[in-house]
Amino acid sequence: MEEIFTRRSIRSYTDKRISKDSIYKIIKAGFQAPSAKNQHVERFLVIDNQNLIIKLSQVCKGTMTVSNAKELIAVYFDKNDVKVDELVSVDLGMVCQNMMLEARALGIGSCMIGVYPLDDKTQAINKILRLTDSLTCFALVCFGYPKNENEFYNKNYFDESKIKFNEVD
Ligand SMILES: Cc1cc2nc3c(=O)[nH]c(=O)nc-3n(C[C@H](O)[C@H](O)[C@H](O)COP(=O)(O)O)c2cc1C
Repeated sequence: MEEIFTRRSIRSYTDKRISKDSIYKIIKAGFQAPSAKNQHVERFLVIDNQNLIIKLSQVCKGTMTVSNAKELIAVYFDKNDVKVDELVSVDLGMVCQNMMLEARALGIGSCMIGVYPLDDKTQAINKILRLTDSLTCFALVCFGYPKNENEFYNKNYFDESKIKFNEVD
């Protein structure tokens, strides 16, 4: 699938806004991810308020991605919805990947910013987003149109030496 091979983490964007229709397509793709015991703990907070984006960027030091974002989706969950605690991060990682691949298909660039379970970052972001009690942010996924179409280039991480059949050695 072309989207898999040409998705790149894109960290700077044009001023073009993303339509609500595209945001919904991206979120729908997120909901389609598989989940342990079909727990589907994913929830989505769509953020386009620039003040909020700047506040979040101050917590995500070392990357300009968040402050550049035109639209940002916080993927969060309610601990009360969880059936298999140990696999929540696997589930939500798949949700984020589906969203980024759908974005790629729409010509939209994306970059995931890991949050949970990094303690300090999770707490700081929960506070900014007013996620209280059992609610917690898992990741921020930044979106925007890439400045250059060529940013969707094909990068090959394939490594034959990491593939074994039946036995490891
Ligand atoms: C769990 C996770 C957390 C990440 N956190 C950050 C981050 O905090 N800041 C950032 O700029 N990129 C982040 N990334 C993006 C990676 O840096 C990126 O995927 C990697 O450099 C490979 O580049 P590619 O996505 O273009 O293949 C994260 C990716 C994942 C999967």
